[in-house]
Amino acid sequence: MTRLTIDWYEQLVRPILFRMDPETAHHFALGFLKTAPKIPGGLALLRRFAPPPRPRTVFGLHFCNPVGLAAGFDKNGLAIPAWEALGFGFVEIGTVTARPQAGNPRPRIFRYPSEEALINRLGFNNDGADVVGQRLQRLRASGFRPSIPIGINIGKSKVTPLEEAGQDYLYSFRRLHAVADYIALNVSSPNTPGLRSLQEDKALRQLLEVVTGENALLAAPKPILLKVAPDVADEGLARIASVCEEFALAGIIATNTTLDHLALAGEDDEAGGLSGAPLRARSTRVIELLRHVTRLPIIGVGGISDARSAQEKLRAGADLIEVYTGLIYRGPRLLSTLETR
Ligand SMILES: Cc1cc2nc3c(=O)[nH]c(=O)nc-3n(C[C@H](O)[C@H](O)[C@H](O)COP(=O)(O)O)c2cc1C
Repeated sequence: MTRLTIDWYEQLVRPILFRMDPETAHHFALGFLKTAPKIPGGLALLRRFAPPPRPRTVFGLHFCNPVGLAAGFDKNGLAIPAWEALGFGFVEIGTVTARPQAGNPRPRIFRYPSEEALINRLGFNNDGADVVGQRLQRLRASGFRPSIPIGINIGKSKVTPLEEAGQDYLYSFRRLHAVADYIALNVSSPNTPGLRSLQEDKALRQLLEVVTGENALLAAPKPILLKVAPDVADEGLARIASVCEEFALAGIIATNTTLDHLALAGEDDEAGGLSGAPLRARSTRVIELLRHVTRLPIIGVGGISDARSAQEKLRAGADLIEVYTGLIYRGPRLLSTLETR
């Protein structure tokens, strides 16, 4: 007898979600994940998607498997128990900014199903470092101890002038380090004016000096990683890697979304960062280039949607990987389809 297997997500859930405006669908899915622990059997249902363990230790942290949730999906840290139940090896919440902000006007997320891509220009909508810090403190106080590392990705508040970026990141770092297993410095989102210029030599050094200086004062300093853009020229990447080494960062996250929309030729283009399949090749190339010049751990992200694309990132030199857009198109089964030996 042949057993009929249907992919519940692709055949039933995704068509419903894709009828909604992308951001509404996002809130709907996140709302469900946030509520899952309160529904009898909710977390048990999510655990059915979890892949077998593939443990490893990277920058001093233990990961039960190398696949993490990329920044931007759970910006405010609302659904951590659900991510853990789904089998993610780690979660990067954020981007969190020093001040709460509403982000850009809606609509600001766009789907390109034939390319398995998204464009977003959210602009760091988030509850701000105070509220997110308190939320994670409360989660701990409730007795919940995530068994997976929780990274917190921090970025610059829109109202803060670029010259004062260091102080802005420092504020978030101070509010959040105690509840984070690692901190990611986001200098690569395309939707905050000028943010990417913090990848340039002088500005990057100033930023790293402030944050790593503060980190060194802690009894237990946290691993700090830098998240880079795929649009930095190859020579620029080598310079960034050497500055990261100089400041003894724990690793580099490669990459954020791209401003290169060439892959969408013929489609209705929208302003913002492109993610998903069209980003895959360039982000893999960035990982290769970085691996060539540094031994720092690399978290590879960009267009991972199946075993092949996951393997490609690991072979290029990534120690861990993260997914975002692939999860929108493939659903929670994605995790167990990625072969990450
Ligand atoms: C809707 C959306 C929001 C995002 N928000 C953030 C963010 O707040 N901070 C960040 O560092 N990256 C953010 N990203 C980028 C992702 O973390 C990831 O680097 C990028 O999408 C490439 O991975 P993917 O092709 O698997 O989506 C966002 C991506 C998307 C699609």
